[in-house]
Amino acid sequence: MPLLIFRDHQGNQYDVEANCGDSVMNAAVLAGIDGILAECGGSLSCATCHAHVQPERFNELPEASSHEQAMLEGAVEPSQTSRLTCQIEVTDAMEGMIFTLPPSQY
Ligand code: FES
Repeated sequence: MPLLIFRDHQGNQYDVEANCGDSVMNAAVLAGIDGILAECGGSLSCATCHAHVQPERFNELPEASSHEQAMLEGAVEPSQTSRLTCQIEVTDAMEGMIFTLPPSQY
């Protein structure tokens, strides 16, 4: 169970033990992290699971699909390291990876 780190825009940090094979979004929701709304439940149609991956580890993740990249254009304040967390499968290699939450998902 890798440890994932979520940080909100107020500087709070949440350490979450995630199950391999689960999505990063689901790990955040199960941990009760408010900044991940995930309104569509992971069906890639809402972009309210947006987070910024720590830049130095961004390229460790599989590339986003063209559909995810299109959905990210509708996310709030997207960056070069933006991802939709419902599209990221948790692996042991992600131990300690940091996801910074946007100020808002709307
Ligand atoms: S939960 Fe809706 S796009 Fe990720």
